[in-house]
Amino acid sequence: MAMLDERLVNGVMWLIPNALVLVGAHAGEEWNAMTTSWISQVSMEPVSVAVSIDKAAYTHKLVMDGGFFSVNLWSPDDTRVFVKFSKPATREGMELNGRRFREGETGAPIFEEAIAWFEVEVARTVDVGTHTLFIGEVVGVGRDPEYQGRAAGIDDTRMKYGGVKRH
Ligand SMILES: Cc1cc2nc3c(=O)[nH]c(=O)nc-3n(C[C@H](O)[C@H](O)[C@H](O)COP(=O)(O)O)c2cc1C
Repeated sequence: MAMLDERLVNGVMWLIPNALVLVGAHAGEEWNAMTTSWISQVSMEPVSVAVSIDKAAYTHKLVMDGGFFSVNLWSPDDTRVFVKFSKPATREGMELNGRRFREGETGAPIFEEAIAWFEVEVARTVDVGTHTLFIGEVVGVGRDPEYQGRAAGIDDTRMKYGGVKRH
């Protein structure tokens, strides 16, 4: 790595006002979801999204195996969910960490409480180091018609993610 001041890198990277979502995945008999801030639309035609997932995450294995992922947007009024899903989740039936989900068209989990969601079919993977960038086409989308507010972002919490790898 170039000789960068690591504290400065952290301080600057943490200023990026990223989204905060639950990325879900499914393969075989397994469903999982994790707190994710590295997510963005990356093309309009086809409508495509990229997400960067740690190679050590269980979700990474499920996205690799299943070939799809879901993105669940959440209300900023309930950010505790993101604390819970930043550690390995427990699944009981169709609940992850006590939050009910259904299978989307791709099989990836869509949470009942999500304010909006979409499903992505992975088209390309890029090895970027600690993480894999999964790029894919949006193949399903929906929202809670009652919900009028905005979606949560990382700045609605005191959580941080990114910067340099902790030694
Ligand atoms: C605020 C916040 C944002 C996060 N964003 C990401 C992310 O974009 N990509 C990632 O791989 N992990 C991210 N994580 C870490 C994962 O949520 C965490 O490693 C999780 O335990 C992975 O779950 P899994 O192993 O069950 O898949 C983030 C954690 C926090 C607290």
